[in-house]
Amino acid sequence: MTANAEPTTAARPPLVTVQGLKVAYDGGPLVLDGVHLELHPGETVALLGSSGSGKSTLMRSLTGFAPVTSGSVHVAGYDVANLRRGELRRLRADVGQVFQQFNLVGRLSVLTNVLTGALHDAGPVNLAGGFSAAHRRRAMELLDRVGIAYKAKEQARSLSGGQQQRVAIARALMQNPKVMLADEPVASLDPKLSHTVLDLLQRIAREDGIPVLVSLHVLPLALRHSDRIVGLRHGEVLVSAPTAQLSTEQLAPLYDGDDEEGED
Ligand SMILES: Nc1ncnc2c1ncn2[C@@H]1O[C@H](COP(=O)(O)OP(=O)(O)OP(=O)(O)O)[C@@H](O)[C@H]1O
Ligand SMILES: [Mg+2]
Repeated sequence: MTANAEPTTAARPPLVTVQGLKVAYDGGPLVLDGVHLELHPGETVALLGSSGSGKSTLMRSLTGFAPVTSGSVHVAGYDVANLRRGELRRLRADVGQVFQQFNLVGRLSVLTNVLTGALHDAGPVNLAGGFSAAHRRRAMELLDRVGIAYKAKEQARSLSGGQQQRVAIARALMQNPKVMLADEPVASLDPKLSHTVLDLLQRIAREDGIPVLVSLHVLPLALRHSDRIVGLRHGEVLVSAPTAQLSTEQLAPLYDGDDEEGED
């Protein structure tokens, strides 16, 4: 930190820059076809598009899990399409991830699940006694931040879906992520819990000054909980604009031709 005033969010350089990204799996058709994307510190970007439009593939490309055919992907200083093995591990340690199914270890305690977020730094650690007091303190602070410190000792599988997703968010924060990705984080939650979890993600983006990219299937959730919306259609960016400038009608072309508009 310097004594100078922090530049505004918009003025700060992007932490993620994707340019002309093309992705094809196993020599098949392009599933991303010339995608551009920038994610700035502190902003929450909702990624929309119907099933198969390429949302998960775009997210995977940011952590080196997608087969890049051409174009460039830069994330937190890493040139993702041209990484060596050791760098790939460090990139993945710098990117916090949250998934639809939470991906917790159900039989372990909530606290231990959060602590596993620290394994990205430390390499393999003995789960029984390998975490430092400082890690434990930090994990408890994060559980407090997501509002479920009182559940720390319970088995993760005993928690509700919304609680489990908050544990997963705390685990991602344990990595001190420079970027956060959430692929349909509320698809398994009811509307009220969806708002709670998305509020939390947006608050984390603002408070920690990190970009959060969150894919969603429900337009009203995207319109309420994002600063910007990027919409994919058949692997191309059809919409990219500040959320305040968009309406449900303007986003409808993303779903043109789908049998069922929107999701259940
Ligand atoms: N591992 C893979 N191997 C081959 N094809 C894949 C693979 N993963 C995704 N695809 C294909 O890439 C396209 C985009 O899939 P992707 O999962 O990125 O879409 P999505 O927008 O996340 O969809 P959904 O909303 O259903 O999660 C689809 O046609 C899909 O079948
Ligand atoms: Mg997907």
